[in-house]
Amino acid sequence: MRGAMLGRRTIRQHALARPAELRTGGRCVIFLSGLGLAALRRCPHHMTTRGTHRIMGARRPLVADHQFILATRDTGYRGVANAVAELIDNSIQAGASDVRVFVREGPGKNARVAAESDVAIAVLDNGEGMNRDTLWTALQFGGTERFGNRQGLGRFGMGLPNSSVSQSRRVELYTWRNRGSVLFTYLDVDEVARRELRHVPRPVHRRLPAWADSLASETGTLVLWSRCDRLAFRRTTTVAQRMRRPLGRMYRHLIWRGVRISVNDEAVAPVDPLFCRPDTGEGGAVSFGSVLAYEVASPAGRGTAKISVRFTELPVALWQDLSVEEKRDRGIVGGAGASFVRAGREVDYGWQLMGSKRKENYDDWWRCEVCFDPELDEFFGVTHSKQGVAPTPQLQAMLSPDLESAARTLNSRVRAAFESLKRSAPSRATQVATRQDVLLPPARPQECWPRSLPRRSYVILTAKLRGRAFFDVAEVDGKLSVTINMNHPFFERIYSPALEGHNEQVRYALECLILAAARAELGAERPAEQACLERHRSNWGDSLAAFLERKM
Ligand SMILES: Nc1ncnc2c1ncn2[C@@H]1O[C@H](COP(=O)(O)OP(=O)(O)OP(=O)(O)O)[C@@H](O)[C@H]1O
Ligand SMILES: [Mg+2]
Repeated sequence: MRGAMLGRRTIRQHALARPAELRTGGRCVIFLSGLGLAALRRCPHHMTTRGTHRIMGARRPLVADHQFILATRDTGYRGVANAVAELIDNSIQAGASDVRVFVREGPGKNARVAAESDVAIAVLDNGEGMNRDTLWTALQFGGTERFGNRQGLGRFGMGLPNSSVSQSRRVELYTWRNRGSVLFTYLDVDEVARRELRHVPRPVHRRLPAWADSLASETGTLVLWSRCDRLAFRRTTTVAQRMRRPLGRMYRHLIWRGVRISVNDEAVAPVDPLFCRPDTGEGGAVSFGSVLAYEVASPAGRGTAKISVRFTELPVALWQDLSVEEKRDRGIVGGAGASFVRAGREVDYGWQLMGSKRKENYDDWWRCEVCFDPELDEFFGVTHSKQGVAPTPQLQAMLSPDLESAARTLNSRVRAAFESLKRSAPSRATQVATRQDVLLPPARPQECWPRSLPRRSYVILTAKLRGRAFFDVAEVDGKLSVTINMNHPFFERIYSPALEGHNEQVRYALECLILAAARAELGAERPAEQACLERHRSNWGDSLAAFLERKM
């Protein structure tokens, strides 16, 4: 293979250089490979017929590349989607509007389930591509021309090589600024581990793989991971399927801005954890309060940078009846927390910054999004794998009081929404009363008996009433409504606890009692009788209030 030839050429060049190096005052001077530091070092080894021996007191290269390459494979990407995100970040930063991810079986494997080490993942973009120098630098660990730059997604020079070796044993990099001139280089974990490859191979011209050739734009880059041996799933379709949702969430803002991302030719749909974009088919949440905006002094003293925080409330009334599976599929269940969005890309999702508020089930029903500039990476504790935040105490002191207070308010609003639904839903007592009513003698003197359809239906409502009674009764079109007065202590001391408690029997008994009393009132038809009943209810309410309010 051409790549392997490249590797050999590099080794030969290195081997040729050795005698000259050894003449340098008895010290060996090498180019430090792998990290590409190209720094002159004293060689800590010398060769004997029995192998390599350390010279006591000699200097060591900063990095033992053959071991480092294996150790860094365990950088700890949360999964393949987070690793692929490093490549997508680079594509987007190179101005790509179309980023195509492919998960395929590796060459020479026709089996339906690919062997673990034979899955290949490729990312093909239509970005601006790289020149020879940038390409040569790109596969170095720490190699970047934008080191420390805070204008975009990348700044560490680690994303490409680190994510690549975390998932695969070989990464090939093709790039072109015109279709006739494709440049190529690669990194092979096994060759490095065997010390056969000690530099990033010098870029050479090479044709794109045939499958990519037909898809490539005028400019662009192709990153190809082969021998992917760290995937959680072996079936390529499963790997692809599992990648779409996390990518849709991570890149939702960029997809909304027009970037197209696809996995195996299926477009990645934006996933909005805040549920406020109707075009995602998940609309329905509403904003809570106004956006909180902070202008923060950059930790590195480079002026100020912005943080914005917003909240949304999910429609409890509309979605609370969905099945648990559907709630899980839509991301409602277990979705409590804040989405942390850095430079337009989500880097974490969690409960950080909520102060001392503990996470409860009710918190699934509101959402938060914290957007920040890379300038504030140190405050948010963003590391080079860009898949988590660990806010510093300073940032916590700045944001947590506001976020915690909003979290508590939203939690109680959700709780209230559930309670109100519980109250307005037909209770067992109203259902039983509706069913049993026909068996009773007529409630009004003129009603025929036995009563034919339509049946009388019963409903219990709650409202803040003006009068002294603890409930009110009305019948319209065969619907008997009892309204419990929320201003009366009966509501707070007896009825509300019965609703919230888990003893359905208490609620049932209480409501049966009130519904029966309400039905009995229907017999009073003449105004004088009705006035008498109203007076009775008011007096009853007064006495009950006095007894309930009385401190023991
Ligand atoms: N798809 C691409 N198109 C153009 N240039 C790219 C592409 N991928 C990588 N590069 C170049 O390779 C360099 C190294 O990429 P890498 O992801 O390792 O580092 P980075 O993006 O600079 O920083 P970070 O580690 O924060 O991602 C980039 O700085 C960029 O110049
Ligand atoms: Mg990068």
